[in-house]
Amino acid sequence: MNYSEAKEKMTAVGQEHILKYYEELPQTQKENLLKQIEETDFSVLKRIDCGAGEERGKFAPLAAMKVSEIEARKEELYNTGAEAIKAGKTAALLLAGGMGTRLGSDSPKGMYDIGITKPLYIFERIISNLLDVVKETDTWIRLFVMTSEKNHDATVKFLKEKNYFGYKEDRIVFFKQDMAPACDFDGKLYMEAKDRISTSPNGNAGWYSSMVRAGLDKILTDEGIEWIDIFAVDNVLQRICDPCFVGATILSDVSVGAKVVRKAAPDEKVGVMCLEDGRPSIVEYYELSEEMMNAKDETGEPAYNYGVILNYLFRTSELSKVADDNMPLHVVKKKIPYIDDNGTVIKPSEPNGYKFEQLVLDMIHRLSSCLPYEVIRDKEFAPIKNLTGVDSVETARELLKKNNIEL
Ligand code: UTP
Repeated sequence: MNYSEAKEKMTAVGQEHILKYYEELPQTQKENLLKQIEETDFSVLKRIDCGAGEERGKFAPLAAMKVSEIEARKEELYNTGAEAIKAGKTAALLLAGGMGTRLGSDSPKGMYDIGITKPLYIFERIISNLLDVVKETDTWIRLFVMTSEKNHDATVKFLKEKNYFGYKEDRIVFFKQDMAPACDFDGKLYMEAKDRISTSPNGNAGWYSSMVRAGLDKILTDEGIEWIDIFAVDNVLQRICDPCFVGATILSDVSVGAKVVRKAAPDEKVGVMCLEDGRPSIVEYYELSEEMMNAKDETGEPAYNYGVILNYLFRTSELSKVADDNMPLHVVKKKIPYIDDNGTVIKPSEPNGYKFEQLVLDMIHRLSSCLPYEVIRDKEFAPIKNLTGVDSVETARELLKKNNIEL
């Protein structure tokens, strides 16, 4: 793309200020900016006005497989899952493309050291959990790691330096997630440098389309991978590809299994799994009516009682149906670093604009069936979002200690 084409493209979307420093840039930076303008899809900006207040459908409860049932059927579930893993039908996908802004570290979140008496990196904990299953089943599970343009090099370098914390290098595949531009509250694009529009990863549902763009769906087909367990980087206790979960999902014959935890209290502020117009979905805590709050299942427990923890086992044959370019795009208020009029980089302490994200919940809603699978919160849910307070390094350390993990 040349300058006049870029100018035309930016003018058409009312963003010609992006070229304001063009003349003063060295040639290579000029080219970088033109390339970014050429490759970026600016149509997301139109979503600002139409994103809010989407109509919801009719909610109904969706029964979870509870811990009591899992315990009673343990052998059957385990054997089915272990068999699928041993046959190479199961892969894992680490979602590590996020910016981790709440934690506030400049490095990728997985590089964060949560140790006390010795180093213990988030990535190390995650890989150690997966290695438990590798050892148990004597199978090197294919591991995909999704990074973003912002943290790819640092992530790859770190894991290589640490010898992948014992994981087999040739069973790991890295790929970068797609990016979306970010703008201020008036829809004006931010620039993060004089030759670069501010961008951010396109949300936790960007993984499948990004994987396809990287040509990696071929690995799924070539290796006969039927199930893929996608999971967040920041839950340092979660079990990944655990055989009982895999077995339960297979035996329930659903499109996706979702690990869930029982709500800590009826009014806990978490989204819970449900059906919406007959399809799996999540109802947010503020959307629960009085009637839904009081509804009970056949065992007398609250009917809307299980929150998701971002650990899902997708049936790969259904993915192409759900993750297309028409996935809903969510407009999210976030802190976006930018350059001011003098070209100085500003890192805001409060949200200053919008990012555009596809969310995995919308993928779930496009599938016909889902098994919510209960895991015990204290054993499998230690998310690290913040440094201190709720869902923090502090709370995760306490939970790790409770589970006898040396810190
Ligand atoms: P969060 O929603 O907690 O976002 O991600 P985040 O970017 O890590 O943190 P904040 O909100 O900026 O503080 C949940 C999981 O989804 C991944 C994250 O890496 C994390 O594992 N994720 C999120 C992506 O891989 N890509 C994204 O675009 C967003």
